[in-house]
Amino acid sequence: MQKKEQNPSAQPLSNESNTSDTRPSGVSRPFYDEPSRAPAQSVLSGMRPTGALHLGHYHGALANWVKLQEQYKSYFFVADWHALTTHYESPELIQKNIREMVIDWLAAGIDPERSVLFVQSQVPQHAELHLLLSMCTPLAWLERVPSYKDQQANLNDKDLSTYGFLGYPLLQAADILIYSASWVPVGDDQVPHVELTREVARRFNHLFGREPDFDQRIGQCLKKLQATEIDMLKKSRAAWLESGDTNARDSARQLLRNLVLSPADRQRLSGWIEGAGRQLLQEPQPLLTEASRLPGLDGRKMSKSYGNSIAMRDDPVHLEAKIRKMPTDPARVRRSDPGNPDQCPVWDLHKVYSDESIRSWVREGCNRAAIGCIDCKKPVIDAVQREQSLFYQRAEPFLQHPDRVDDILREGSKLAATAAEQTMVQVREAMGLSPRWF
Ligand code: TRP
Ligand code: SF4
Repeated sequence: MQKKEQNPSAQPLSNESNTSDTRPSGVSRPFYDEPSRAPAQSVLSGMRPTGALHLGHYHGALANWVKLQEQYKSYFFVADWHALTTHYESPELIQKNIREMVIDWLAAGIDPERSVLFVQSQVPQHAELHLLLSMCTPLAWLERVPSYKDQQANLNDKDLSTYGFLGYPLLQAADILIYSASWVPVGDDQVPHVELTREVARRFNHLFGREPDFDQRIGQCLKKLQATEIDMLKKSRAAWLESGDTNARDSARQLLRNLVLSPADRQRLSGWIEGAGRQLLQEPQPLLTEASRLPGLDGRKMSKSYGNSIAMRDDPVHLEAKIRKMPTDPARVRRSDPGNPDQCPVWDLHKVYSDESIRSWVREGCNRAAIGCIDCKKPVIDAVQREQSLFYQRAEPFLQHPDRVDDILREGSKLAATAAEQTMVQVREAMGLSPRWF
């Protein structure tokens, strides 16, 4: 893949490429319009502040976040505004829950040196983008999101016929689009929200990315490139638009990623390759966790409200008692009755915690009534306790000094706000609003 340290044919960026830039020449450009290589692909995900997390959260989401942060620029945030859409009647819970939850993120191995950890409400740009997106999002798109009617029906002790609750998925779209996140790791219940986000981005780009002098601007962008690059982009674009050659499209995208361009030029060229206008907002993809689903102690989905959960930082004695009390295959009434692991919630724990040799010991022992259920549970208890002691170890310094959690979130929120503001500068301009006066 072609990589260049510099783009020798790049002309100094002049005012002509940005009509709103009226500063005299020689004045340096603002940080958000500095030409640069495309930012690394990024991952973004959020959780509502529900307080201490359980092993279902760890195996279903956090363990995956921990892996993703090695590979991608990662943003993980506390969706406190989203919590208010359903829990506006208990505002007192939010602060306490944020700390407890973020300690569990750190306990899981989320590394604040690698990932940006922040609090949604500390980055008011999310609310601004939500508002601006609401101008052009058809009401019907929100009304037909499955979680809207489901939750209204299920949480019938709450009044969810509010404006904020209807806007829940649009606020989520703003969360994602404001960081140009490529990947959104979520559970399958959230996929419709990512789909909506894609539609909102497409509509936004269609409405506000059509610049009257687009073709002329593309000509100007291209002039800043080398002849071989122009040639490659034009050929690939034609192959993609005329014969649907996705390889050609992908190599054009790849070349674009490696070029040094201002953000606005990058958005124009990427839209041009696709046969559309300027791509102000980038469509994200859901990243489904192939994560092991860890059901609760009774075999249903693990959830604090069902009383079937194991906290990430549970007390070891308490934990042992909980697993010992777990129901097993109902056919195994007596020790001498053979059982079937597929009918047993303990087996689900083995699937996550045990290696092949323990699992075949369980299968055989259970089928032939050679082991008792207490024997069978022992290796699971040990494995969960080992995992939890690691969580405790990582959480300990933060439990001692809770203000360190606040420091991490404060620093993360500053970084997030800088990134979010870069997007907002482009969005405000595209929607005809003045740049910020102060
Ligand atoms: N709705 C998500 C949930 O309930 C939380 C969330 C809010 C989120 N904004 C997001 C997740 C953006 C991913 C990306 O789990
Ligand atoms: Fe379940 Fe293990 Fe008992 Fe079989 S032996 S019923 S798998 S707990």
